Amino acid sequence: MVRGRLLLFLVATTMAFRISWLWSAEPAVNYDEAQVPAYELPDPLRFSDGTAVATASDWTERRRPELLALFRKQMYGVPLAHPAGMKFDPPQVAEAYGGKGIRKSIWVRLAGTAEGPALEIVLYLPKHQANPVPVFVGMHLFPKNDVDPRPGQLWQRPAGDTETVVPGEQLGSYILERGYGFATLTAEDFAPDDAKRYTRGVIGSALATGQQEPGPDAGRAIAAWAWGLSRALDYFETDPQVDSRRVIAVGHSRMGKTALWAAAQDERFAIAISNNSGCGGAALSRRIFGETVGAINRRFPHWFCTNFWNYNEREGELPFDQHELLALVAPRPVYVASAADDRWADPHGELLAALAAQPVYQLLGRNVDGLADPAPLNRSSGDFIGYHIRTGKHALMDFDWVQYLDFADRHFGHRPPVQ
Ligand code: GCU
Repeated sequence: MVRGRLLLFLVATTMAFRISWLWSAEPAVNYDEAQVPAYELPDPLRFSDGTAVATASDWTERRRPELLALFRKQMYGVPLAHPAGMKFDPPQVAEAYGGKGIRKSIWVRLAGTAEGPALEIVLYLPKHQANPVPVFVGMHLFPKNDVDPRPGQLWQRPAGDTETVVPGEQLGSYILERGYGFATLTAEDFAPDDAKRYTRGVIGSALATGQQEPGPDAGRAIAAWAWGLSRALDYFETDPQVDSRRVIAVGHSRMGKTALWAAAQDERFAIAISNNSGCGGAALSRRIFGETVGAINRRFPHWFCTNFWNYNEREGELPFDQHELLALVAPRPVYVASAADDRWADPHGELLAALAAQPVYQLLGRNVDGLADPAPLNRSSGDFIGYHIRTGKHALMDFDWVQYLDFADRHFGHRPPVQ
């Protein structure tokens, strides 16, 4: 009896201790502007040694590589190598969208052999096209059969979440009618989005025998997904129906982080679009509003390299902030989109990052006029750095798509083909 009570007491106190430990390890989420700490953003136009970046070539030849190396080492990780010997199977082509489009399934043979690892790219193109078309490409999280052929569901969770699901058939047809193609890749093929399994895709094949985890500065899931977008671009360069100089990296949320990182590294992407990418994407880390570096690393230890964990609750020590990720896309157009109810992703922090990236675009001779703080609701603004905040929640909606198509049209001088 006494022993039973003692045991109960021990179990109860251990649990209480654990709960209070967990509680104290995780700071409360801040949703109050008044609680945003004073912070100073690193100046993108200063080298690490403090000297000024004075000319466009200073940026392109020295500062950009310096920043890219810092982001790699401290956050997203050093990328995987280009797969030597990679080959593409001839596409399997079928009709799509009631005859308006075609669907191509392309198997990428990473080792160049039928037995080796393979990944699929699914590409939709307008059926009637006189010239190669620009293409949106994005990574998604859903099992393949769930996304085909409903592109509205490519970058969001469809299950039961009717409000966030863009009408697939209609949206797909609409994108094709506007003279664009779109391509999708399945995250699971590259790196399963799971802390226990993320090495089972392309990351595992880069580990040395016996090595369980990538090193502290090696890329994890986001790096693998971004790497995947670049492999799709490799394919586009071989497809005469695609205008590979006009490929747009797009993604929602974790895949928005991915799209930005892919375009930051791979200058073949013509435009980068971040839909509600938040912490680790377009939102400034130093604001400590909504999701923080510590929060993201604790929940998703498989996304960033482990060096990034050193900045949990120490955001001020980061040698960069996310405005500099946007600046790495310069001089190419970049678009940041927020949703008013998506406080976890810190909409205002996303806008502030867009504004703080402006000096780099200006140094490179790009017009960045038009971005306003606060931004008007449901109206796109900005030239080479585009931004909107729409009403509603964390999702990729048809309103967002229309802005992206308009943004791409404007920068590409693109007009929908006459049907
Ligand atoms: C979580 C995560 C975010 C991420 C989002 C998503 O909310 O904390 O960082 O952007 O999932 O990908 O939907």
